[in-house]
Amino acid sequence: MNLLTESTLTSAHTRPYSSSHIGRTKKLPSYRMDLRSFSEKEYNKFVTLHTVKDWSQLKWKDIGRPYEVKADSKEKTDWESRHQKAMDPHTSWTYFNKAFHEWFVKDVPGELASSKHDFFKELKSFRPGEVKHTIGSMVQLHLWNYVHRIQDGIWDPRGKRALFEGIDIKKPRILFLGAAEGYEAMQLGAMYPGAEIVMVDYDEYCKTTRFAEFPEAYPFLGENPQTGQSKVYYKDDLSIEYIVNDIRSLDYGQEFDIVLSVGLLEHFPDEYKHEVADWHRRFLKPGGYAILTTPRNQVRSKVYYRIMADVMNHTYRELMTVEQMGLYMYESGFNILRHGYIKVHNGLVCQPR
Ligand SMILES: C[S@@+](CC[C@H](N)C(=O)[O-])C[C@H]1O[C@@H](n2cnc3c(N)ncnc32)[C@H](O)[C@@H]1O
Repeated sequence: MNLLTESTLTSAHTRPYSSSHIGRTKKLPSYRMDLRSFSEKEYNKFVTLHTVKDWSQLKWKDIGRPYEVKADSKEKTDWESRHQKAMDPHTSWTYFNKAFHEWFVKDVPGELASSKHDFFKELKSFRPGEVKHTIGSMVQLHLWNYVHRIQDGIWDPRGKRALFEGIDIKKPRILFLGAAEGYEAMQLGAMYPGAEIVMVDYDEYCKTTRFAEFPEAYPFLGENPQTGQSKVYYKDDLSIEYIVNDIRSLDYGQEFDIVLSVGLLEHFPDEYKHEVADWHRRFLKPGGYAILTTPRNQVRSKVYYRIMADVMNHTYRELMTVEQMGLYMYESGFNILRHGYIKVHNGLVCQPR
C-alpha cells in the first residue's frame, strides 16, 4: 500500500466526517453521531429556558428539596458488607467510572442480538435463575439503547450546544471539574475555537481509560473561526491537559474563563453544597463563567436510576429541579445568567456576585 492510500484510510477511520456531513445524524453501534444544527426558531426545542425572574424571591419551602436516589449498586452493598464500613466517595467513584465506561463501549446491536439468543437457549433448557438474569440484562440493554443511542440523552449534543452558546469569550481557558470522559469540555472547545482545556478528575481511570478511549472519530459540531461557519472537530483537534488530582488540592489561581462541571453538585448533601459552589468560583478570572449541569428530577430519570442501579449508584446522588439547582448557586453567591433544562439535565450559566 502506498503512503498516500494508507494515510487516507487512517483518516477515513479516525476522522470520518467533514463539513459535507453537517446536518446529518446516524446511529453507530455504541453511540449516535449528530451533526444536526438548529435554527434560531428551533432553539427552544433543545433547551427550555425558564424565567425565574428574581432569585432572591425564591424560597426553599416553595420549591422543596431534591429527591435522593436510594437504590444502591450491588457492588457497593457487597463491598460494604465485606469491609463492614461505608464505601468512601473516592472508592465509590472508581467503581462507578469502571461500570459506566463499560456501557459506552458496548456494541449495542451486537449485544442485543446475543442476549436474545442466550434467552431462548436458557428457556429451552429450563434454567429459571439464568432466564431471570438474562431478562434483567436485556431490559438494561434496551434502556441504554434508547437513552444513549436513540435519544442521545446523556451526551445530548444539541441540548448542550444550546445551553453553551453565546458566551462572550474568545479562546477561553476552560477548567472541567470531575471531568470523567471529558465530553462537555470538548463540545465547548469546538464551539469556542482556540480553547485551552484542563480536565481534572481524581479517578486515574478517567484519564487512562474513559478519556483515552473516548472515540477519536466522534464528531463535535463547532465553529470555524476563519469563516464563522460550522466546522467538525475531533478530540485530537483540541488542546487538552488531563490532570489526575483531587479538586480540593488544585493550586490554580483565578485563571480560567469557564469553570465547568457535569453531574457533580448532586453528589453532595446540602452541608457540602457551598463548598462545591466555591470550587466553581475559586479558579475563575473576574468576569468568568461557571457552567453546571445536574440530572433532572423527572419520572423517567427515576426509572433509569432504578433499572441501572448496579451501573450508576455507587455514590450519594440527588435528582433536582432547575429551580433547586439555581437556588443552591444563588445562595452560594452566584448570579444566575441562564437557567434551563435539556433532555436529562438541568443547566446553569452563572457568575460570582
Ligand atoms: C458523576 S461523574 C461526572 C459525570 C460524567 N459526565 C460521567 O459521564 O460520568 C463525577 C466525576 O467527578 C469525579 N470527582 C468527584 N469528586 C472529585 C474530587 N473531589 N476531585 C476530583 N474529581 C472528583 C469522579 O471521579 C467522577 O468521575
